[in-house]
Amino acid sequence: MDILRRSTQAVIAMDRTKVVGFVNGISNGHMAYIPLLEVLPEYQGRGIGTEMAKRVIVESGQQYGVDTACDDDVVPFYERLGFKRGNAMVLRNYGPTTRTSTRPAKR
Ligand SMILES: CC(C)(COP(=O)(O)OP(=O)(O)OC[C@H]1O[C@@H](n2cnc3c(N)ncnc32)[C@H](O)[C@@H]1OP(=O)(O)O)[C@@H](O)C(=O)NCCC(=O)NCCS
Repeated sequence: MDILRRSTQAVIAMDRTKVVGFVNGISNGHMAYIPLLEVLPEYQGRGIGTEMAKRVIVESGQQYGVDTACDDDVVPFYERLGFKRGNAMVLRNYGPTTRTSTRPAKR
């Protein structure tokens, strides 16, 4: 929830009291970025992802662009929303346990 609260935009899809999907957008007023878009597997294919993504795009108004990075299999989903394929470079911090080091481990 903290991630959504700190976002410029957030849309949550509910089935009664159950959260079944969410999307967030962050923006500096010129460019918006969609870091997360998720729908529970059993709720996929019902238009929920499309509706949530559209809301972020519409709320982004006349900004220069809306970017996102996604796996290859999700490209057709975004193409249907008008996105064009581009290159994305990502830097991730997965925490100290996954970092590699050339120094010998301390005993
Ligand atoms: C991608 C995701 C958000 C789509 O949500 P959804 O609610 O299932 O999407 P919709 O029901 O609105 O689908 C709209 C169309 O896109 C298609 N589509 C959805 N996910 C797709 C995928 N991974 N690959 C290809 N097509 C896809 C659907 O088949 C549907 O087409 P149809 O109307 O002809 O049946 C959802 O599949 C998901 O949460 N996936 C796992 C997380 C993920 O990959 N998120 C994106 C990272 S940025």
